[in-house]
Amino acid sequence: MSLFLGYEVDKDGNPTDKRLEIPAKILVRHMAAFGSTGSGKTVLAKIIIEEAAIEGIPIIALDPQGDIASLIKLADPKVIEEHGLPLKMLREYKDKVYVKIFTPASTKGLPICIDPIVFPDAKAEHEDAIRLLDNSSRTLVRVLIKVTGLPSSYESKAFAVIYELMKNYWQKEKEIKDLKHLADILVEDPLNSVDYGKYLKDAERERLSQSIRSLTIGTSELLFELGERLDITKLIKKEKGRTPINVFFLKTLTTDEERHFFISILVNRLYDWMINQGSSKKPRLIFFIDEIAPFCPSGTVKPGPKEGLKLIFRQARKYGVICIIATQSPKDVDYKAFEQMNTYAIGRITARQSREAIEHIVTAGAGETRAAKIINKLPRLEAGNFVLVSPDLKKDIQFFKTRWLLTEHETLTENDVRKLKEALISAGIIEVTTPEVTKVPEVKPEEVQPPTEAIDTKIEIEKPATMKPKEKIKDKEISKKEDILEELPTPKMSEEELETALKRPRIVGVKTPSSNEDVIAALAARLEELGHTEFGLEFLRDLVKKGQLKYPVAREWYYIEVNTALKTGLAHLEGEKLVYDFEKLLKNVMDEIDVSELNVDEHRVRKKFEKIIKSAKRANFIEYILLGRPFLKY
Ligand SMILES: Nc1ncnc2c1ncn2[C@@H]1O[C@H](COP(=O)(O)OP(=O)(O)O)[C@@H](O)[C@H]1O
Ligand SMILES: [Mg+2]
Repeated sequence: MSLFLGYEVDKDGNPTDKRLEIPAKILVRHMAAFGSTGSGKTVLAKIIIEEAAIEGIPIIALDPQGDIASLIKLADPKVIEEHGLPLKMLREYKDKVYVKIFTPASTKGLPICIDPIVFPDAKAEHEDAIRLLDNSSRTLVRVLIKVTGLPSSYESKAFAVIYELMKNYWQKEKEIKDLKHLADILVEDPLNSVDYGKYLKDAERERLSQSIRSLTIGTSELLFELGERLDITKLIKKEKGRTPINVFFLKTLTTDEERHFFISILVNRLYDWMINQGSSKKPRLIFFIDEIAPFCPSGTVKPGPKEGLKLIFRQARKYGVICIIATQSPKDVDYKAFEQMNTYAIGRITARQSREAIEHIVTAGAGETRAAKIINKLPRLEAGNFVLVSPDLKKDIQFFKTRWLLTEHETLTENDVRKLKEALISAGIIEVTTPEVTKVPEVKPEEVQPPTEAIDTKIEIEKPATMKPKEKIKDKEISKKEDILEELPTPKMSEEELETALKRPRIVGVKTPSSNEDVIAALAARLEELGHTEFGLEFLRDLVKKGQLKYPVAREWYYIEVNTALKTGLAHLEGEKLVYDFEKLLKNVMDEIDVSELNVDEHRVRKKFEKIIKSAKRANFIEYILLGRPFLKY
C-alpha cells in the first residue's frame, strides 16, 4: 500500500515527472512536518489523509485552525485536471471515503460528547489499566480545578480518592456510568471503595461531588453531555465499505482549558482503544494533530493532553496507529514527541530558531555535511516543497513537491460548518436537528460527501494565528531543568554496582563462597531481582521521569513489591514501611548458594549491605523501597 505524495524535485529545485510514493507502513513509525506558516504542512498532511483514506485507513484529525475540515469539500474536477491528476482519483475519494466534522460543545457540525470517565477494558493488562485510570483521574481533577474552580489544594486528595474509587469499581467489574453517577458515588459509595475520611472531610467530599456535578449543567454540559459519546470504535467504523475521516473542529471550543480538556479525553480514549486492539504491524488508524505546540509544549508546562500524547507517541507503533504531527515552531514542542518520530517532512523555514531546533534531527538522518546543505536550503523552499528525511525510505533524503489536493484547501469558520450542515439537511441528506437535540442524527455514509455545488460560500482564508507560548522566555531555563531531571534517576550506586555484581560469575551452585564479595554480590543480585519483579527498573525509571513517583502508580507498585517481598519472606512491614530483612535476605542467599554455615565475616557483610542501601539516592524508586522508607506522602 503506497501513498502518492507528489513529485520528486531535481537538484536545482525543479519538479520532475517522477512520482514520490511512500509505503504507508513506514508511517507507523510516525511523522512530523515542520515549516513556517504557508509552507504547506497542512496540505501535505491532508494529502496523506486523502491517500490513506482511499486505501481504507480511517483518520482522526485535530483541526485547530479550521482548514482540515475542508476535506469534506471536493475540488473542482477542472482544477484537478489542470494539476495533472486523473479524475479517477477524485472519484475514488468520493466513493470510498466519508468525512465527518465534529464540533465539540456545539451543534453547528456534529456535536460530540466527552465524558472523562474512561474505564479500562476488563481484559486490559494491569499496568495499562493503571496508567489509564491514573490518566483519567488526573485529567478529571485538572478540569475540576480549571473549569469548575475547585481549589487547587484539593488536587492530590481529590486525585487519590477518584483514582482509588475508579480502580475499585474497575476491579470489581462494576460500571461508573457517567459524571453524575460518579458524583453520586462520592456522596454515597455502596462499595465503600476508599477510606474517604483519610483524604477528605465530609464537607470536602460534598464539595468535590458538587464540583463534578457542575460539569453536567450549564455551558459545561454542552461539552460533557451534548451529542454522541466519543467512542473510537464507532468513529472509525467503515460504513458500506467507506472509510471515515473524522475531523475535530476545535474552533467551537473557546478557551485553552476546553481545548486541552477535550484533547486529553480524546487521547485517553484513543489510548484505551489502542491497547485493547492488541498489536498490529499493519496501519490501523491515522491520528493527525495540526499545530501541536500548545498541546504538547516544550519545557515544564503541562497542559492536560501533554502526557497522554507522549504516551500515545511512545506506544502507538505497536498497535498500528500512525501519528502525524505538524508544527511551525519546533522549538516550542516537547522534543520527546519528536524522538518518537521516524520520518520528517521539512518545508520552508524562515525563522532561524526553528531551523536550529531541527538541526539535530536532520543531522541524525543525513549526517553533518548533507544536513548543513539541507538546512541552508530551507529558507528558500517554495510552498509545497519539502525534504523528506527518513531512514525507512530507499532514499533517506528526498526533495519533493506535493501534489494538488483532491479537496478544497480553505479555512472554514463555524458558520461555514453550520452552512455545510444546513446544506446537507436541506438536501435531505441528514436529519433536521435543533440545538436542543442531544442525539446526533445517524449520518448515512453514502450521503455524507456533500455535492460541491450545494455549498456556495465565499470563505476568507484566515491567517493562522501565530503561536506565542507563554513560556517562551523561560524556555531555556526550563529545558535545562528538564535535562537535570533526565539525569536524576540514574543513581551512581545501585544500578552500576548491581550490574557489575551480576556480571560476576553466577554464584548459584557454588559450593563454598570464598569471600565476602561473593556473598555481597549475591545479595546485590537478589536485590536487583526483587527490583525486576513485575514492572522492572525500566518502568520505574519511566515513572520517575514523568514525575509520577508519588502516588498512586508508585503506590500500586509498592503494594506489588510488598506482596512479593512478604510472600518470599524477605521483608516485613513496619506500619506502611516495607523493611528488607538483612538476616532473611542473607539466609536466602546462603541457601541459594548452598552454604549452610557462614564462613565469612557477617559483620562486614552486614556493613557492606547497609552501605549499599544507604548510598541509594532518594530519587531512585526501587532504592526507596529497599530503604524501607514510606513514600506515600503526597
Ligand atoms: N488545493 C490545494 N492543493 C495543494 N496545495 C494548495 C491547495 N490550495 C492551496 N495550496 C497551497 O498550500 C499553501 C498553504 O499551505 P498550508 O498547508 O495551509 O500551510 P501551513 O499549514 O504550512 O501553514 C498555499 O500557499 C498554496 O500554495
Ligand atoms: Mg497549517
